[in-house]
Amino acid sequence: MDFLCIQGGGRLSGEVHISGSKNAALPLLGVTLLGKNDIHIHNLPQVVDIQTFITLLNMLGAKTHFEAGNACINTTSVNQTKAVYDIVRKMRASILVLGPLLARFGHCEVSLPGGCAIGARPVDLHLKALEKMGATIHIESGYIIAKAPQGLKAAEIEFEKITVTGTENIVMAAALARGKTRILNAAREPEVVQLCEVLQESGVQIEGIGSNELIIEGSDRELLNIPSFNVIPDRIEAGTYLCAAAITQSAITLKNICTEHLKAIILKLKEAGFTLYVQEDTISIESLSSIQPFEIITTEYPGFPTDVQAQFMALATQAEGESKIIERLFENRFMHVNELQRMGAKITLDGNCANVHGKTHLLGADVMATDLRASSALVLAALSAKGETRIHRIYHLDRGYEQLEEKLTQLGAKVYRGRE
Ligand code: EPZ
Repeated sequence: MDFLCIQGGGRLSGEVHISGSKNAALPLLGVTLLGKNDIHIHNLPQVVDIQTFITLLNMLGAKTHFEAGNACINTTSVNQTKAVYDIVRKMRASILVLGPLLARFGHCEVSLPGGCAIGARPVDLHLKALEKMGATIHIESGYIIAKAPQGLKAAEIEFEKITVTGTENIVMAAALARGKTRILNAAREPEVVQLCEVLQESGVQIEGIGSNELIIEGSDRELLNIPSFNVIPDRIEAGTYLCAAAITQSAITLKNICTEHLKAIILKLKEAGFTLYVQEDTISIESLSSIQPFEIITTEYPGFPTDVQAQFMALATQAEGESKIIERLFENRFMHVNELQRMGAKITLDGNCANVHGKTHLLGADVMATDLRASSALVLAALSAKGETRIHRIYHLDRGYEQLEEKLTQLGAKVYRGRE
């Protein structure tokens, strides 16, 4: 397995180009199952999760071509409706074929995505919503067996919890259902918004895009003509690089971003004392030697994103005082704490609340990546720490960060990838 070796303590400088959003790209690959044409997608991040989803589409019988961040996908040849365990276990977002396959073919089998490091990650809300749309669903030998032989019908669906991929699955199912589906308590993440916008540009009438209430007029199984589109920039990658500058007292500029999607992150960095120059598609952050402690409560969009909680916890180790981080969305999203403590971080946990004492001078160590965003927090801590850090099991990082070591090296970091 690969590991990353980072010599910490240096400064970063220059510009970093932010890639397309993994979490926008995944549902957008799922929506190709509703199309009847060659669908051209640009600005796809070249990360493992995207490759895995394309492999899944190929296994279902789609024709795909993917190179240098551009894909052409035609799913008219799809003749399989089973998403097998071997794929789903590698990437739980494979659940995003459930809604489209069921809406289009009237039946599908999707392996239940297991839990993961950050929590149980159930999909009960996805299944309940599809049953309200007329599907019969049962679980057999670890597979979701979903049937709707007459197609799905419109329904009024209220999610008891805000679920991003749950909303995305139902939006895609509703796009091909019969009648007008209303989704209450829908997720408002920018990734959900782009999915709705692409469907709207494909002729699906959708009201309330960007709000918690969506109304979708289905095509009654008429396949869609999906025009080409660019995947939106990755707001979580952008937040990660802002923290990389912040934790190393560096000034850098991020290019190719959508600052509209970063408001909560920008606000929190300003609260910590940072100066940021914000334009529509670039941000420059100034270096700061004395960081103010801060409080974070992770919340659904437009609140503070859970996907940058770990990165801000690493940053909090460098603040002058006590920071507090409350993780509301996932029950086990503090896997990075033990590893940060190995580097000298002073963090105490009380349920879903972490108290971080700063300023603590971190020391390089051998640490273990456990999940995608926890791993990026270890990279940030390693950039700040004195000495050498080796981050093991970095396949987690490869799932969601495009050209991580190349981008960090370009910013002046001392990082290389080794094999053990
Ligand atoms: C999406 O996961 C993202 N993944 C996650 O990013 C992100 O952390 C999460 O949304 C929250 O923003 C993708 O978009 C591919 P949820 P998702 O359904 O949709 C509970 C990353 O780092 N829930 O919004 O799986 C669930 O357990 C990844 O890129 C149910 O109880 O998250 C959680 O507590 C990690 N039943 C809460 O809702 C359900 O049926 C929010 O989960 C569904 C969810």
